Amino acid sequence: MAGDLRHRRAPPPEDGDEGASPAEESAAAVDNGKEGAGERNGKREALGWLEWGRGWMAIVGEFLFQRIAASHLANPLELPPLDGVSIVVTGATSGIGLEIARQLAQAGAHVVMAVRRPKVAQELIQKWQNENSETGTPLNAEVMELDLLSLDSVVKFADAWNARMAPLHVLINNAGIFAIGEPQRFSKDGHEEHMQVNHLAPALLAMLLIPSLLRGSPSRIVNVNSIMHTVGFVDAEDMNLRKRKYRSWLGYSNSKLAQVKFSSMLHKRIPAEAGINVVCASPGIVDTNVVLGVHYLQHLTPKFQNTVRCLSLKTGLSVLASHTIAIQ
Ligand SMILES: NC(=O)c1ccc[n+]([C@@H]2O[C@H](COP(=O)([O-])OP(=O)(O)OC[C@H]3O[C@@H](n4cnc5c(N)ncnc54)[C@H](OP(=O)(O)O)[C@@H]3O)[C@@H](O)[C@H]2O)c1
Repeated sequence: MAGDLRHRRAPPPEDGDEGASPAEESAAAVDNGKEGAGERNGKREALGWLEWGRGWMAIVGEFLFQRIAASHLANPLELPPLDGVSIVVTGATSGIGLEIARQLAQAGAHVVMAVRRPKVAQELIQKWQNENSETGTPLNAEVMELDLLSLDSVVKFADAWNARMAPLHVLINNAGIFAIGEPQRFSKDGHEEHMQVNHLAPALLAMLLIPSLLRGSPSRIVNVNSIMHTVGFVDAEDMNLRKRKYRSWLGYSNSKLAQVKFSSMLHKRIPAEAGINVVCASPGIVDTNVVLGVHYLQHLTPKFQNTVRCLSLKTGLSVLASHTIAIQ
């Protein structure tokens, strides 16, 4: 992913271009470095064949070899004591986010589960407290409501957190959707749902929480990304895929590429002295709700199924930690 960023880096802003936001820059940056694709008025319209082939090879390679590539990692990952560290984890009610939140809370961190189903998160905390009762230390976890399909909800969440005037040390933008095979849908804010949930809303959340991240500095924003970004293409004039034919994998991969580009721009825009690091991380292909659609793999022969089996959650978290790449 780091190499990918180097290839697709946007040119530095020219004098007088100071007003462009990171989001605008990130959209413009995707037009750079794409050899061999069709062009319209000098603008690229799609990935070139070479890039497309390279991207899919990376995805197939991950599917086939990820378990070998992850075999050297500690599993489960040992965490240091995290007392006094405040961490917001979005999408902590299932899959990777649930496991991240549980492990961080058990290591002593103050974990804020930012979720759209608060009742489910409350029940999870209760369950973890019961499991933890032997050690006698109550977990420092709480729930706050956040629906990434509503930008109002993002603003409300950030306002509520910032009003505490408390430091935030880590924001983990984990929540995401991959509506495999489903028709295109738009949020009430008018954005294609993958683009809003996987990129726009987390980007807004990160920017709005900067005052709290400054209070917690050195702090970091961790964006849970995906290898699928390698086949993404973001047209700055058609972010919501209204003009071109929609496919769910395209919606997902474009949103993940947009997140990588945005992270890169944001990292460059935040002065080093601020001490806020921005990273994207790829967990591998992990057995969670998001990959339920991949279960057509069950129709493959048992031998092949065994080869392409998804990573377990614990292995996914180890990979996530080892694949956390600073956007330089
Ligand atoms: N699993 C993989 O193989 C894989 C690979 C690469 C990247 N990723 C990335 O990893 C992240 C976590 O995915 P996962 O695999 O753990 O999937 P998951 O089990 O489906 O978890 C997704 C989480 O996001 C939450 N969410 C979805 N829409 C939301 C919304 N509108 N507002 C707030 N929260 C919302 C879900 O909440 P509910 O519980 O309420 O549905 C859930 O907690 C995603 O960003 C995904 O793209 C996963």
